[in-house]
Amino acid sequence: MRGSAAPRGAAGEQAALGLRIRKAAMGDIPNVLRLVNSYAAQGIMLPRTEFELIENLRDFTVILSDQKVVACGALHFYSAAMAEIRSLAVDPEFQGRGLGRALVEALEAEARAFGLAGVFAFTYIPLFFQKLGYRQVDRGELPLKAWKDCLRCPKFQCCDEIAVIKHF
Ligand SMILES: CC(C)(COP(=O)(O)OP(=O)(O)OC[C@H]1O[C@@H](n2cnc3c(N)ncnc32)[C@H](O)[C@@H]1OP(=O)(O)O)[C@@H](O)C(=O)NCCC(=O)NCCS
Repeated sequence: MRGSAAPRGAAGEQAALGLRIRKAAMGDIPNVLRLVNSYAAQGIMLPRTEFELIENLRDFTVILSDQKVVACGALHFYSAAMAEIRSLAVDPEFQGRGLGRALVEALEAEARAFGLAGVFAFTYIPLFFQKLGYRQVDRGELPLKAWKDCLRCPKFQCCDEIAVIKHF
């Protein structure tokens, strides 16, 4: 994969797919919305609006296959020390090929470059994050501001997402 964070393994397959990783641009918004909101419709991610994406576009990194966005993820600052990895989504056709790992590693590199001490995520797939060196924590350990998204979540009263964290 060209770009800053080629995934481990399956390099030949990645190259054959013509994958490229980079920061998101305004032209990616329709594809990122489609990807994130297709999973939101299944209740496994928070939905995003076009306005939110425009406002937070600098958070996003995307992976493209032949100019089409096939994976995305965002790094959202919460304190001088911590950021959240969120809106992580890989097109079903491209799952299991290291794209999720490549995105998380790119977002971690970005967090390090900004001088953060670590990153956290809320997830239904703690095993995926454990493989990348994250540990499960009580959500009370996370910055209070991280809960602000919870207020507009349909599962606010019955949240079953798991908090995971990685200190650098
Ligand atoms: C979760 C998701 C981002 C993973 O992306 P991916 O590109 O398929 O994952 P990768 O190929 O990079 O996998 C990296 C490692 O995590 C493991 N992994 C991936 N998905 C997993 C899952 N659902 N459960 C357990 N382990 C998983 C892989 O086996 C791999 O392990 P290995 O390095 O030992 O081989 C992707 O499946 C997805 O978009 N899911 C739907 C949206 C979603 O749930 N997003 C929220 C995530 S917080």
